[in-house]
Amino acid sequence: FQAPFPPYDPTDELGFSYETVVKRWPVILAGIVDQLHRENHTFHVQAQEDHAQKQALENKITEGKAIIEKISKLKYDMARDHVMEPIPADGELHADFYNTELEALAKSSRNTWFKAPWLYAECYLYRLLRSYFAQSTHWRNFDPFHSQKLDVFTKSGTSIYGIATIMHELEAERSVLESDPEKLKVFFQEMIQMCLWGNATDLSLLTHMSLVDIEKLQSVGKDMQAARKEFIMRDDQEKAWKHISTIKDGRVDFVLDNAGFELFTDLVFADFLVTYTPYVSKVVFHPKLIPWFVSDVTPPDFEETIKSLLDPSFLSSTTSPPPSADQQQHLQQLAGRLKRYVTEGVFSLSVPIETPLGGGSALESLAGFWTTPVPYWDMKTYDPKLWDSLKDSDLVVLKGDLNYRKLTGDIQWPPLTPFDEALGPLAGSFPLLSLRTNKADVAVGLDEEVLKKTEAKDPKWRVNGKFALISFLGKT
Ligand code: F6P
Ligand code: MG
Repeated sequence: FQAPFPPYDPTDELGFSYETVVKRWPVILAGIVDQLHRENHTFHVQAQEDHAQKQALENKITEGKAIIEKISKLKYDMARDHVMEPIPADGELHADFYNTELEALAKSSRNTWFKAPWLYAECYLYRLLRSYFAQSTHWRNFDPFHSQKLDVFTKSGTSIYGIATIMHELEAERSVLESDPEKLKVFFQEMIQMCLWGNATDLSLLTHMSLVDIEKLQSVGKDMQAARKEFIMRDDQEKAWKHISTIKDGRVDFVLDNAGFELFTDLVFADFLVTYTPYVSKVVFHPKLIPWFVSDVTPPDFEETIKSLLDPSFLSSTTSPPPSADQQQHLQQLAGRLKRYVTEGVFSLSVPIETPLGGGSALESLAGFWTTPVPYWDMKTYDPKLWDSLKDSDLVVLKGDLNYRKLTGDIQWPPLTPFDEALGPLAGSFPLLSLRTNKADVAVGLDEEVLKKTEAKDPKWRVNGKFALISFLGKT
């Protein structure tokens, strides 16, 4: 599909992609280098103490240093707008695909960091980083963002306990909810908004947030949601509800975004649909197979999240003030149910949970597509199996900013372009609901009045993460 406008790229120095190449990627790369130095230091200390392991640890350190060098060179090349190197044949997915695209860009001299389309270049960056680790012996399964993801997750305790209590209170209302669809709808709206604002805490954008900032972003409850409502620039909650309430024992798919708090909100939304409504009885979650856009969920993150929630000391030790005994019990109850849904297959991952990062059986799974730069309107051509599978879904929830960019091809659409038009041929394939806080320039399906008002209020509305879009489109 050929869109009638060009994609965003950093040649526009006022756009967010320019700021990303100049400021944000270097910070992310420097963060990986720091992390590797820390890991190497730990191995160094271990090697002094553990003579049996000394050689193996030293080999690991040497490889770690080589990866640091590659990343430092990448950072240097990026800042000087050098040519983007081909992805090496590392045995993992999509290397040829990325390289063919690079060759095509080279024909118009756009195969450099400041000229390539932003969506392509950013996906390429994470795939290239993956190749550095995939080609090593000792760092093959290393996720350079793991400790960062875990760290922010441990800081989300206050909000997580708050939500667990809301879910506990819901239990008491179960019989009322069963007989009163209007009441169910009110809770549905709370859930959808919690899940939407869960996307505000992704780590690639908010690189230096304080604990207070995090808590502010994550706070739930009616007052907070009412206050945030004016920041939802397109609100298809009503349409989404209408659609969901026509389903019976259906399947919902979540194309996941970030690990930690956001994943928790996705699980809770899914739990609500399965436990409290007659509409949904199965949920499929789609993670990323490789470390992706810093904080995206990988299969190990998914498994670890549920384990951590079940571990009574995991969040309680980092939450201040500490949770009450009741709160702890509410979280145990919720986490126990999530775990049971996974065990029983009510919740499933689109990859086997034990799949190592990348490689192997991943080739057979339906998860590879999410780490290509392909706009979703070409899903049917590039991954007909995935497209076929999603066609059987009663609702595909696409979380976050990157999914939104891929839905719309990251094209410079005028903001009044109808949502379905910006989806190209994907429109109508399956019912879809995009929940996105705005962290990139692209925005479509807006109302003229809302647009005018928002422009006047905050000219940075496209990228500062304060505004959001709830976009629903049914199947035709
Ligand atoms: O850096 C590019 C980007 O897509 C931003 O637009 C956004 O801040 C981030 O990466 C990913 O956001 P999300 O986790 O919501 O997809
Ligand atoms: Mg993300």
